[in-house]
Amino acid sequence: MNFQKNRERFFNEMPDQSVAIIPSGNVKQRSNDTYYPFRQDSNFYYLTGFLEDSAMLVMQKVDGHKKTTIFVHPKDPLKEMWEGRRVGVEKIRDIIACDESLSIDDYDTNIMDKIKGCQTLYAPTALIKGSLSDKIEKAKEGKSAHLYPDTFKDINALLFALRRKKQPFEIAFIKQALEITQKAHHAAMAKANPSKYEYDIMALVEYIFKTGGASGDAYTTIVAGGNNANILHYTDNGHKLLDGELILMDAGSEYKLYASDITRCFPVNGKFSTPQKELYEIVLKTQKAAIERIKPGVLRSYISDQAIQMLSQGLKDIKVLDQSLDEIIEKELYKPYYPHGIGHWMGLDVHDPVAYKDAHDKEFAFEEGDVLTIEPGLYLDAGDETIPEIYKGIGIRIEDNILVTKEGCENLSSDIAKEIHEVEDRCQMDLYDYI
Ligand code: GLY
Ligand code: MN
Ligand code: MN
Repeated sequence: MNFQKNRERFFNEMPDQSVAIIPSGNVKQRSNDTYYPFRQDSNFYYLTGFLEDSAMLVMQKVDGHKKTTIFVHPKDPLKEMWEGRRVGVEKIRDIIACDESLSIDDYDTNIMDKIKGCQTLYAPTALIKGSLSDKIEKAKEGKSAHLYPDTFKDINALLFALRRKKQPFEIAFIKQALEITQKAHHAAMAKANPSKYEYDIMALVEYIFKTGGASGDAYTTIVAGGNNANILHYTDNGHKLLDGELILMDAGSEYKLYASDITRCFPVNGKFSTPQKELYEIVLKTQKAAIERIKPGVLRSYISDQAIQMLSQGLKDIKVLDQSLDEIIEKELYKPYYPHGIGHWMGLDVHDPVAYKDAHDKEFAFEEGDVLTIEPGLYLDAGDETIPEIYKGIGIRIEDNILVTKEGCENLSSDIAKEIHEVEDRCQMDLYDYI
């Protein structure tokens, strides 16, 4: 079982005489008595595959002996009638293949027994500093103070290191997420026209995600028409699509809690204008060059530097900037037009919280099994008086999801239309081919 194997990998990293406490996610209030849809905590899911809220996982490693306990909601017919079915204390043991299962109602009275005898405690810092801190402080006042941990470690560092290298089942889930995402992007290209609003496209994307088997979106979908593309985290999605403008769509489905993260730009009326093409080609060339260079041993900063060079040269070529290339790069004059990074780790979280540097501040080189995005962009705001008129109000980003392989890399989203002629062809397709 994949998640049980993840626990094994985690246990292998834990020193002897240690205990780890990993909370599940909790249901979050939206307002008064309504709640946001529940999404499991990524770390908890990685170690259990379990999707219910308000659970606790406890992993003890004492004298080489490993024991996993889970605390879950107990069965409760009345609560289940109102809130949804629960697995319960009995069944969960087999489902996640752990040693012991208890009611979450018994967590408070049991947790100090689980910690006793351990020198090191791994938990989220919020838990160590929060509800656990009083309990441990109190235990440390008694005669058996020496039996309680004196080393506290945030669990994230250890877990994030494990989560970096994607296993085959994780890659399969990301590929499935991308298959659904591909259909959504192609359908959006087919649907866009000057009679539609940004939310028409967003609703279509969400429909395709849900009916395609995804749990939903991996992050809030961005459908940005025209100058809205120059708002990096645009989620309003409420404006009319105008003839002659581009749509920047950043949308990725989530499959079995694994993300995809794709951006494409396509014309509302189906045809790129000349200035749109010029900008698009600069970003596309940069993006392809970045992907080409990815392989084990290469640094992300190397890929990033090259992208900065190419985008800066592009800005110079179209006369948005007129300084020397050296000056543009040295003084970061490109930054107003390319303000974000070249890409990020991706997995259970769209921005997988894996470190980019080791404990000595040395940058990690790419390794086989890394999954990351490559997403250069150029943003030319309509209100920028300094740039040529023809480019005002155009924002371009092109984003793919890349798996680092033994010899190089695989673009997992290479089937999503990206060349100008491919995108224009998709814009001419019949929407009913997709829904
Ligand atoms: N969709 C978020 C990002 O591209 O990083
Ligand atoms: Mn991204
Ligand atoms: Mn994105």
